[in-house]
Amino acid sequence: MSTIVPTPGTRHRVRITDVAFGGDGIARLEDGRVLFTPFVALGEEVEVEIASVKKNFALGRLVSVLTASADRVEPRCRYFGDCGGCRYQHLRYEAQLTLKETQLAATLRRIGQAELGEVPVKPIIASPQPFEYRNRITVHLKDGAVGFHAAGGHRLVEINRCEIAAPAVNALLFELATTRRRRREDGHRTLRADRTHRFFHQANDTAAALMLEHVSMLAGAAGGALVDAYCGAGWFIKALRARFTQCIGIEWDTYAIEHARNGAEANERYLEGDVALLLPQALAATGSAETTVILDPPAEGLAHAVTDAVVDARPSRVIYVSCHPATLARDLARLKTGGYRIDSVTPIDMFPQTAEIEAVALLTR
Ligand SMILES: C[S@@+](CC[C@H](N)C(=O)[O-])C[C@H]1O[C@@H](n2cnc3c(N)ncnc32)[C@H](O)[C@@H]1O
Repeated sequence: MSTIVPTPGTRHRVRITDVAFGGDGIARLEDGRVLFTPFVALGEEVEVEIASVKKNFALGRLVSVLTASADRVEPRCRYFGDCGGCRYQHLRYEAQLTLKETQLAATLRRIGQAELGEVPVKPIIASPQPFEYRNRITVHLKDGAVGFHAAGGHRLVEINRCEIAAPAVNALLFELATTRRRRREDGHRTLRADRTHRFFHQANDTAAALMLEHVSMLAGAAGGALVDAYCGAGWFIKALRARFTQCIGIEWDTYAIEHARNGAEANERYLEGDVALLLPQALAATGSAETTVILDPPAEGLAHAVTDAVVDARPSRVIYVSCHPATLARDLARLKTGGYRIDSVTPIDMFPQTAEIEAVALLTR
């Protein structure tokens, strides 16, 4: 270990003791500060250059790997490390899965703490495709160039291929990148394998199919009502409607609601508006404790009004589909305090090679 005081530009030899949610490896500097460095693996000994120093921690840039982990592999993408999208292409896929499982359990322990106690985190469901899975990507356009933002900033990394995008999306990307000199507008553009989707649609089709299978298994036997909050175009309801006497979807995106209403069965209806405002009336309309609620919010998780509505109406089963472990931990703690038991939390790797973690939790009264 170096005895050099950490200042920007100094180099230090450290051992990585953990990799935190988001992808930064954790090490401790001699002066006691925690050092965060991306693109490293658990247990590795690495040389790191200090990028910045804060009161209690420092940020580092990997200079060289002195003792490599057995999990380290050659990244497939030539932009890896510069592009801000992927964080784990340097790890074999099984190691990424183990890491995400561990990070989810650690986040639930750290944030849920006293309220949650020991949470039953189940083995992660892997994506059938670790690469070429994204059916849509959003690229940025600047001064005729096409690309993604660099890690930790807004500098454009020019690209003409993305290894996690599906072949149909890469064909669109290549076309856009090679005709870019004729496209002078700045901004961003979403490239979709299926151009008819103007509303939220799960980005990894094969992993989404496994998630749907899992949610379907958790939804249990026939009967009762289903309330699908943040329902998008009714993806869960369409798959599960035959099993319930009535289904109510809530969503504020007009296009998604229109799409959901098209081809709706007699037991299926959709409310357009804010879940925080409409959930109490949807739960009152089901009028029974034999109700299953699916909550699939964006990364911010649930507003207080939403957890309060669930706790007040006491539906028998809640299936929480999360795309952010920290807000999941916070919301599970609130629901547990409100009388729910957490039966299981199952991570799903919807976004291989990236730091994202999705999870599905089952709660019952
Ligand atoms: C993660 S997506 C889930 C969509 C759907 N469950 C699916 O799998 O296709 C979240 C959805 O919630 C909607 N949304 C976000 N906040 C909302 C709110 N406060 N009220 C109603 N809808 C909301 C978004 O428009 C988006 O369609």
